Amino acid sequence: MANILSDVEVIDRIFHHIDNKTTDLGDNDWQEPTSNYSCPDRFAREQALFKRLPLPFCPVAALPDVGSYVARLAAGVPIVAVRGEDGVIRAFRNACRHRGVKLAEGQGCTKSFVCGYHGWMYHLDGRLRHIPAEKGGFPGLDREAHGLVPVTVTERAGLIWVTQEEPVTDGAFADLPDLIGPEQVMIDAVEFEFDVNWKLFAEAGMEGYHIKMTHRESFYPYGFDNLNVIETYGPNSRIIFPFKRIEKLRDVPREDWKIDGLVSSGYHLFPNVMVVMLSHHTAVQIAEPISPTHTKYIRYRLTNRGTDGSPEVIAKAKRDAEFVANTGNIEDRDITLKIQQGIASGANSHFTYGRFEKAIVHFHKSMDRMLAKMN
Ligand code: FES
Ligand SMILES: [Fe+2]
Repeated sequence: MANILSDVEVIDRIFHHIDNKTTDLGDNDWQEPTSNYSCPDRFAREQALFKRLPLPFCPVAALPDVGSYVARLAAGVPIVAVRGEDGVIRAFRNACRHRGVKLAEGQGCTKSFVCGYHGWMYHLDGRLRHIPAEKGGFPGLDREAHGLVPVTVTERAGLIWVTQEEPVTDGAFADLPDLIGPEQVMIDAVEFEFDVNWKLFAEAGMEGYHIKMTHRESFYPYGFDNLNVIETYGPNSRIIFPFKRIEKLRDVPREDWKIDGLVSSGYHLFPNVMVVMLSHHTAVQIAEPISPTHTKYIRYRLTNRGTDGSPEVIAKAKRDAEFVANTGNIEDRDITLKIQQGIASGANSHFTYGRFEKAIVHFHKSMDRMLAKMN
């Protein structure tokens, strides 16, 4: 298990914070240049880094059957992940080996990939299967050399991770807790995009200092303002937001203490993914940076761990997902849009992150360390 607190330790710390009106604090504040949220050169360096990290690509649950595939951008590169006839999940650069047409879009299930231009056909394991009129047009073509181009796939914590180039760091999975179990059912995947740098929306999920101001009607009535347990492990972090209903545990024997359902837990997976465990559903939110000031998001929504995937559980998860999508997420989106617009004002040469914003400071330190390794 990861180097993070047990449920009982987390609950002890939450009760301490409630009783003392405190919250977890970082060791220092941090100044981040605002140009890092708009500069094309910085953006290019980040994209180059992304290619050399294991990037969470989708939940394993998004690829349930032979032939299930997900096609998305990772680090700006079209990638398709697919479950093969042998049950193994592989990923490829999403382009035909004839004249480069992208083969797959979105998600679905297929027996093979067929190019829409001239009909070259590929097996699910990437081997070239068929070339129309091969003998006449391509005599002597080396078929083995013209299969789909693979990228490295790792299955960990219920997620599929894709690494495109020589990794800059090893130990990326050290201390990673189990996040998504096989019992968790995928409900859907929603996509949205807006005009922010990819780091801004991630940061909104990494601190609870804004709960009362930004989420006054949505989250604040059920939770606390600026009361979090914040841990870091490797380049990642976990931010726990307790619900008021956690108070009921004060009458429960400690050996029966469990946090599921009594807190929201946000796991920031460096660099661009948040796995958020909410009351009745779990969201895996992946940022696809498109430009320095534009980001696409895909949010996979699943039932919670330890639930049985029954119609009632799924209905409850859907209601919870819609509540969060229509309230808290919109509030965070609107605030981060205003941050991006505020950056253009030129008022701030840098942002100062305080000691409440410990996970964000950790994120920026990790970014700086990793970017330095690229030089
Ligand atoms: S480009 Fe794919 S078959 Fe020609
Ligand atoms: Fe928020």
